Amino acid sequence: MQIDTKTIRKHFQKSIDKYEQNALVQKLMAKKIVDNLPSVEGDFLEIGSGAGVLTKLLSGFNYNIYCANDLVEKSEIYVKKYIPSAQFFAGDFRRIKFHKTFDLIASNAVFQWCDNLDKVFSTCWHNLKSSGILAFSTFSCDNFFEFREISGLSLDYKSLNELVGMLSPNFEIIYSEQFEHKLHFDNPLQILAHMKNTGVNSLSEKSWGITEVREFCDNYRSKFPDLNLTYSPIIIVCRKLN
Ligand SMILES: C[S@@+](CC[C@H](N)C(=O)[O-])C[C@H]1O[C@@H](n2cnc3c(N)ncnc32)[C@H](O)[C@@H]1O
Repeated sequence: MQIDTKTIRKHFQKSIDKYEQNALVQKLMAKKIVDNLPSVEGDFLEIGSGAGVLTKLLSGFNYNIYCANDLVEKSEIYVKKYIPSAQFFAGDFRRIKFHKTFDLIASNAVFQWCDNLDKVFSTCWHNLKSSGILAFSTFSCDNFFEFREISGLSLDYKSLNELVGMLSPNFEIIYSEQFEHKLHFDNPLQILAHMKNTGVNSLSEKSWGITEVREFCDNYRSKFPDLNLTYSPIIIVCRKLN
């Protein structure tokens, strides 16, 4: 299922102040992105900067201009906390004309919210300078399999092979990785709270009533008694082919 940008924006706007302290896995993903970057300097664009988890790590790099973008206007405050000179562009990155090209486009845990990834990658290609780097993380089809099994709700995640297949005609893959990370919770309500605090409750367009929540908790306990929630992130770093 794909969600419209208004709903995504609404949920991330609500969760942005709680995001950083709850986004344990997204922090690991951001670290893996920067750890696997080749030497890069010049003009940077960050897509979906949110509460600045990736911005913080990129702030130590040798950028000339740092542009950041998010659907949520408040992201600008977080970005400027780490990079006061950053230029911020609010809105859907696919619709923004940046009027310049970049040496690095970086994005942590954003592209799973986008339909038509071919178009996303083509937008990135056009916004990159010759041999520029696209470095991003997203999630694979196995992400939150417990939640999907119980609620039937899931984004239209792509596998690592599918992503590499989409990128390969126009990008040289420098680094790719898929890993699994389980978070343990003491009860299923905490799982729902965790998803809400990281914006993932955008998956459900209408809010759940007491009956749905109780059913979810009972089913989770009976099907997944260890009360784990499995993340399945993907990291890709690639270079624009001209
Ligand atoms: C899971 S959060 C990741 C935040 C941050 N990148 C990090 O490192 O943790 C996803 C962010 O992507 C933003 N986002 C989703 N779709 C977007 C789009 N089409 N254009 C710009 N931002 C988008 C959301 O508003 C949200 O802040």
